[in-house]
Amino acid sequence: MSKSTGSAALSQRSDMVVFLAGEYIAADQARVGIATHALSYGTGCFEGIRAYYNSETDQLYVFRALEHYERLARSCKIMNIRLPYTPEELVEMTCELIRRNGFRENCYIRPFAYKADETIGVKLNGLEDAFTMFTMPMGDYISTAGLRCMVSSWRRVDDNMIPARAKISGAYVNSAFAKSEALMSGFDEAIMLTHDGHVSEGSAENLFMVVGSELVTPPPSENILQGITRDSVMEVARRELEMLTRERVIDRTELYTADEIFLTGTGAQIAPVVEVDHRAVGAGAVGSISGQLMRLYGDITRGRRAEYMSWLTPVYTAAHSPANGHNGRNGHNGHNGHNGAKPKSGKQAAATKK
Ligand SMILES: Cc1ncc(COP(=O)(O)O)c(C=O)c1O
Repeated sequence: MSKSTGSAALSQRSDMVVFLAGEYIAADQARVGIATHALSYGTGCFEGIRAYYNSETDQLYVFRALEHYERLARSCKIMNIRLPYTPEELVEMTCELIRRNGFRENCYIRPFAYKADETIGVKLNGLEDAFTMFTMPMGDYISTAGLRCMVSSWRRVDDNMIPARAKISGAYVNSAFAKSEALMSGFDEAIMLTHDGHVSEGSAENLFMVVGSELVTPPPSENILQGITRDSVMEVARRELEMLTRERVIDRTELYTADEIFLTGTGAQIAPVVEVDHRAVGAGAVGSISGQLMRLYGDITRGRRAEYMSWLTPVYTAAHSPANGHNGRNGHNGHNGHNGAKPKSGKQAAATKK
């Protein structure tokens, strides 16, 4: 059985800096009230973003940061949350947060926009919105050596229940049910079906099959999150492998006969599936297309492919070198800097009453 990796924790280093209520502060000072609306009701939306370290260039590259923040803006629109920053400002704030933590290793960034009122009452309107963000070092989220999957007994949330196209925190209970069932049953990951029994996605990953000379993946109407890795894989497969992706409805048993299957996601990266419901996928080992895409993705994310540099935001630019008075570790004093962290209104970031 393949090895599942553990989850990362913010507490893994004692001096982490996070962003809360318009300020960069020490992680151990960052607190939200116990009656916070999003904590009770799951009324927040978030992103998961990765930055990859290249030791040859001593540079950290944030992968497709703008696309992640554009998706966050769409999630917020669906959730009636006012985001106090533009996607471009959020990209810069992300780089600033990483610099303040001084990371020179692969890391993960978790921005979170949420309903912040400390009140009882289930609704989305007339509440205060807030934004917070943290980052931590992160290696593999799930194994990339070949996953054993099961089709979950839990169905994927539907657009008219909790829209999967928005990355809503409360919706991750659906993912957690599926993932836990898989782990407790001795599998590595779950594949969820839609309410009418078609393949949707993994607990936090999109799904691709290799069928002959094509990639096949469910369309957005199958209650998937439209993944940024999914989009990247479609483009890389087309450009580098001359493979087109067909977005179409997939039956469960097609999973048993596919040549290859892999899952994609910011956390998962490209994770090949070698078994579904006790049936070997293809030859039961990492397939050749999956392997090629994994290698290409590894190179692209670390800035080794010039054609894809527009997908990367370098964190340590000349403007932030020690010579310019920035050492990336400005302490935990809430310094607000030059990076648009305060909303233009000058009001506290959290205070965006509707
Ligand atoms: C439910 C779900 N589907 C798919 C994905 C993959 O999306 P992305 O590639 O943008 O990380 C994720 C991860 O964010 C997810 O949580």
